[in-house]
Amino acid sequence: MRQPIVAGNWKMNGTLESVRELVAGLKAGVGEVNAAEVVVCAPSIYLSEVSSLVEGSAIKLGSQDVSNAASGAYTGEISGAMLNDFGTQYAIVGHSERRHGRGESDELVAEKFKAAQDAGLIPILCIGELLEEREEGVTEQVCARQMDAVINAYGVESLKNSVVAYEPVWAIGTGKTASPEQAQEVHAFVRAHVAKQDAGVAAGLRIQYGGSMNAGNAAELLAQEDIDGGLIGGASLKADDFLTICRAGG
Ligand code: PGA
Repeated sequence: MRQPIVAGNWKMNGTLESVRELVAGLKAGVGEVNAAEVVVCAPSIYLSEVSSLVEGSAIKLGSQDVSNAASGAYTGEISGAMLNDFGTQYAIVGHSERRHGRGESDELVAEKFKAAQDAGLIPILCIGELLEEREEGVTEQVCARQMDAVINAYGVESLKNSVVAYEPVWAIGTGKTASPEQAQEVHAFVRAHVAKQDAGVAAGLRIQYGGSMNAGNAAELLAQEDIDGGLIGGASLKADDFLTICRAGG
């Protein structure tokens, strides 16, 4: 039985004041979320503040990225150990805004995945195809390639302590959600791809859906057999909407 996991990706949004308000709203309602694990991935600069604010609540903390290096002369980077120092438990790696917006390669993302695990964090590995890739019919190849970058470098066992987020790039921030059937199809493919190497790891792997998931469409998406939660951008900035999604997750 896979515990659903709903994570909010706040991206580069908010102010200290709005972050405090958002967390207060989440804390007020998180008690009604029964089954899903609830995570907020705050901008790094606010992690320390959010870490103190969520203490004692069921809300867990995640970062939006992590350096592939453990320490050293890497100006502007933040290491897994530093994130850990502030109670961060999860780290998003390979978000499309970094793969496509910042030119991160599959190999770099895999290194970040490993660096997160080495620091005791659970990576949330984002994968997903561009619109043109879907139109060309290569969605499965793209997702397999992005998964294989991790599997080939660190072994299928490395997925045991991780979460995968399938996020079709054309659905992120666009209001165009994948239909539950479209999402389920890719989720099932990803699980089967992992199962070719290790059926046990595949059965336990939590695969989130991300891309315009909101309070209105979450229940239908989360009801799909291989969808084990959501990675939520826009709708995670409103406490009520995010909590509705978390409740839909169980
Ligand atoms: P969205 O973003 O929910 O705003 O589409 C999802 C994500 O980028 O993780």
